[in-house]
Amino acid sequence: MPLPTETDSFAALEPLLLRSKGQGDALIEVLHGAQQRYGHLSDPLLRHVATRLKLPLSRVKGTASFYHLFRFQPPARHRCVVCTGTACQIQGGPALIAALEESLGLQMGDRRADGWVSLSEVRCLGTCSDAPLVLIDGTIGRQQTPEGLRQRLRGLAP
Ligand code: FES
Repeated sequence: MPLPTETDSFAALEPLLLRSKGQGDALIEVLHGAQQRYGHLSDPLLRHVATRLKLPLSRVKGTASFYHLFRFQPPARHRCVVCTGTACQIQGGPALIAALEESLGLQMGDRRADGWVSLSEVRCLGTCSDAPLVLIDGTIGRQQTPEGLRQRLRGLAP
């Protein structure tokens, strides 16, 4: 189902805002709901939340930027996530990161300007015996090699 657009004046967020009764202590819940509904926390959306919860915009932005789970840009169409836990790093993780950065023209934590792909890291995916691991669009690649990884990237839709 497509995400609602911001041209709806954030109507999709209204039920959650009404439930919060304008209480500032509902901020995290409202931010989480806003991101679920709109895919990311845009500047106009943060302003809307600040107004409706009667909070300073600086507090809303400060809270949102404190937590890693909040995004300020639309998610990329493809997401590459490298495990940077100890087992994966010992088993070749740094070479995988180098291959991804070179192939995608990105640094760790970046998203391509055209929104095609993003590159991020996770601490441990919990299956260390298959290290090193790279998730692409939610699919785990086990015992990944730089060449195997490049092959997976070539299979990504434009
Ligand atoms: S360190 Fe990578 S899965 Fe645990």
